[in-house]
Amino acid sequence: MSRMSEPSDGRWPTRTEGPDDVAAVRRINLGAFETAAEADLVDALRQDEAAWLPRFSCLATAGDDAVGFALLSRCHVGDTPALALGPCAVLPGHQSRGAGSAAIRSVLESAREAGERTVVVLGHPPYYPRFGFTPCSGFGITPPPGQEWPDDAFLALSLDGGELPSGTIRYAPAFGV
Ligand SMILES: CC(C)(COP(=O)(O)OP(=O)(O)OC[C@H]1O[C@@H](n2cnc3c(N)ncnc32)[C@H](O)[C@@H]1OP(=O)(O)O)[C@@H](O)C(=O)NCCC(=O)NCCS
Repeated sequence: MSRMSEPSDGRWPTRTEGPDDVAAVRRINLGAFETAAEADLVDALRQDEAAWLPRFSCLATAGDDAVGFALLSRCHVGDTPALALGPCAVLPGHQSRGAGSAAIRSVLESAREAGERTVVVLGHPPYYPRFGFTPCSGFGITPPPGQEWPDDAFLALSLDGGELPSGTIRYAPAFGV
């Protein structure tokens, strides 16, 4: 069942992805990114029962149209379950007007309500700190073996304000890292 939320900024209602939204999610990712890699990643994650958590696939809407998307999938920090944020995507015609932020805030709130504690993201350095993310290095969370990621792009968030686990991040296999 879809979970509806009031728009965080009055403009972008959000809801969890429903059974009929698979094509819309793919369309958003194909529109937002230069290649199909992110859309294919989402579809690959859907096939991974350990990684795909349907209630953590969130859409921001404009009228009847889904225009923004934010996903959390299962990852681990060391042996501790955590969540990986991304892809996050907004159709080009709707970017920079709050739809991405609305989808991200909504999916983070869903995770917090579900009792999840840790979220990590690898993304644009200027964007994610506004949601409370800070460098993973500050928590002793390290990239996968062989990866050297910029400190300001590899970020983590405590959903309950508590201490985060430390250790090496292990993404779902679909991420290929
Ligand atoms: C990144 C993205 C999800 C943000 O959603 P959005 O609705 O456009 O952004 P919001 O209105 O919530 O926030 C605005 C911020 O988004 C960022 N942003 C806007 N357009 C962007 C773009 N095309 N690419 C990357 N970041 C962008 C800017 O940092 C902007 O910052 P500001 O508030 O200081 O001006 C969306 O722009 C997008 O899909 N970009 C292309 C795909 C992408 O790069 N995804 C993120 C991978 S980490």
